[in-house]
Amino acid sequence: MPYETLLVDQADGVGLVTLNRPEALNAINTALIDELNQVLDAFERDANIGCVLITGSAKAFAAGADVKEMAELCFPGTYLDDFLGRWDRVAERRKPIIAAVAGHALGGGFELALMCDFIIAADNARFGLPEVKLGVIPGSGGTQRLTRLAGRAKAMEMILTGRSMDAAEAERCGVVARVVPLPELLDAAMQSARQIAAQSRTAVLLLKECVNRVDEGSLGEGLRFERRLFQAVFATPDQKEGMGAFIEKRKPVFGKQ
Ligand code: HXC
Repeated sequence: MPYETLLVDQADGVGLVTLNRPEALNAINTALIDELNQVLDAFERDANIGCVLITGSAKAFAAGADVKEMAELCFPGTYLDDFLGRWDRVAERRKPIIAAVAGHALGGGFELALMCDFIIAADNARFGLPEVKLGVIPGSGGTQRLTRLAGRAKAMEMILTGRSMDAAEAERCGVVARVVPLPELLDAAMQSARQIAAQSRTAVLLLKECVNRVDEGSLGEGLRFERRLFQAVFATPDQKEGMGAFIEKRKPVFGKQ
């Protein structure tokens, strides 16, 4: 079945999803996240699939959630339409998911990669949570998952300034499993995925559950907290200014209170 925003393939027990909105650097809009969930649902049900691989293009894994779609959102909209619920579903999958990241993985794009079980990065990858520059905050787990992986100091610095880090820094601070040269990214990630798909399905799913247990408890609390704040930030003028300025290709002017 053809998708509007994804390319989908499967081989050797691996389900491969390629994010495919090149005109927007794979910015994640509702169509994309909904299609991604449809594909992940199908892979979860498919007994032939033992591991899923999500990738983007050489230039961008995904440059964030789609700012043009979000710009006019308001607090009741993000809350009532459960804007973030569809994102959460990616992290709730039982089968392992690897993110193969090249180029930009920013904002919601980085958060999507962080929801996967591990990241293999190309040497040109750049990771960041630049939401602060748009007058908003990460809403799909970024503040919680980056802090757990990279530690409080690095996460705080990156999230408050909006600066991104390169692949080498991401590997040093434990955000990515390993870094490979860009031309080798897909082969390297496919090799890992095939290896996982060849193991006992039961053992693999149990292992994923066990490792994830490490984060249980206060992560849920943290995610609920972050979600509420994300929804609330759409009640601020700074959100309209930050996203409006991005679309109009100008510098934002934020209020001082
Ligand atoms: C919508 C986007 C986009 C985005 C890029 N584009 N990122 N559209 N949402 N997040 C579009 C641009 O508008 C442009 O379209 C085209 O993709 C190419 O982008 P350029 O900016 O021309 O490319 P470049 O100069 O190479 O710069 C790349 C970039 C920059 C540094 C990645 O595009 C950028 O800063 N993007 C925004 C990154 C960001 O702020 N991400 C966080 C979003 S908030 P046109 O049609 O203009 O040519 C977020 C919140 C998540 O993710 C909350 C949880 C769900």
